[in-house]
Amino acid sequence: MGYNLLKGKRGIIFGALDANSIAWKTAQTVHAEGGTFVLTNAPIAMRMGQIDELAKETGSEVIPADATSVEDLDNLVAKAVEILGGKIDFVLHSIGMSVNVRKGRAYTDEKYDFTAKGWDVSALSFHKVLQSLYKADAMNEWGSVVALTYMAAQRTFPDYNDMADNKAYLESVARSFGYFFGKEKNVRVNTISQSPTATTAGQGVKGFDGFISYAEKMSPLGNASAQDCADYTITLFSDLTRKVTMQNLFHDGGFSNTGVSQEVIEKF
Ligand SMILES: NC(=O)c1ccc[n+]([C@@H]2O[C@H](COP(=O)([O-])OP(=O)(O)OC[C@H]3O[C@@H](n4cnc5c(N)ncnc54)[C@H](O)[C@@H]3O)[C@@H](O)[C@H]2O)c1
Repeated sequence: MGYNLLKGKRGIIFGALDANSIAWKTAQTVHAEGGTFVLTNAPIAMRMGQIDELAKETGSEVIPADATSVEDLDNLVAKAVEILGGKIDFVLHSIGMSVNVRKGRAYTDEKYDFTAKGWDVSALSFHKVLQSLYKADAMNEWGSVVALTYMAAQRTFPDYNDMADNKAYLESVARSFGYFFGKEKNVRVNTISQSPTATTAGQGVKGFDGFISYAEKMSPLGNASAQDCADYTITLFSDLTRKVTMQNLFHDGGFSNTGVSQEVIEKF
């Protein structure tokens, strides 16, 4: 590493809970590439997580914000611009949570206030983040916003439960908001569709261990790790991808286009 790809760029990074988090690795990688940023997470996650360690390591400030609260997000955006000393160049939305999954409710037995809460946290929060940035005119021209998603938005993975629907919505928001942000402010908005990854959120999905091994055997390049995801994300934050917008970008070692692999056939 060390291309100085993000020298002079300022950003906001959501979702670093612990050292396994994709957002944690991204923060470290952005730091190594010369970017500065504010870290944020839900107030409750801060008490459970270790975000202060990451803040110290990367010379960042932490501003708590519940991504479902417009008030918190407006405050976050205003403070980030103030602390960083200028408008924002990059934003990572790395947030996901399903109450139905947490409470062990099957997709065919959803409790709808759980569904609504999970949707607000995992999907609508992306619109809220974009709208806060947009209304405050807080993004620099040619800035870049990335959210993380999973292929269950396109193809069925039964245990992914209502998160599949949340990810479909999230990916749609990237396209819809990406149009307005592109047209009016030259800002790009994309989603990265990441391999299954051993994090707190990932391991919450039923049967995760079997599934991650299956994906490993199905992907010609193997699963993409959290660090691989961080590396890909910084290319999207850099000036080298300025015309990439409104895309859902698969970052999965080739899984999404593989029908079957020799290793999987041999298991039968
Ligand atoms: N781990 C995987 O297998 C995998 C695969 C594809 C995509 N993703 C996506 O990557 C993203 C990051 O997840 P991760 O795997 O690093 O797990 P993680 O558990 O480390 O991160 C999820 C984060 O969401 C935060 N969060 C939850 N509710 C919030 C709220 N109300 N406001 C603000 N933040 C809130 C949590 O505090 C946590 O930091 C998620 O969008 C997830 O769906 C993960």
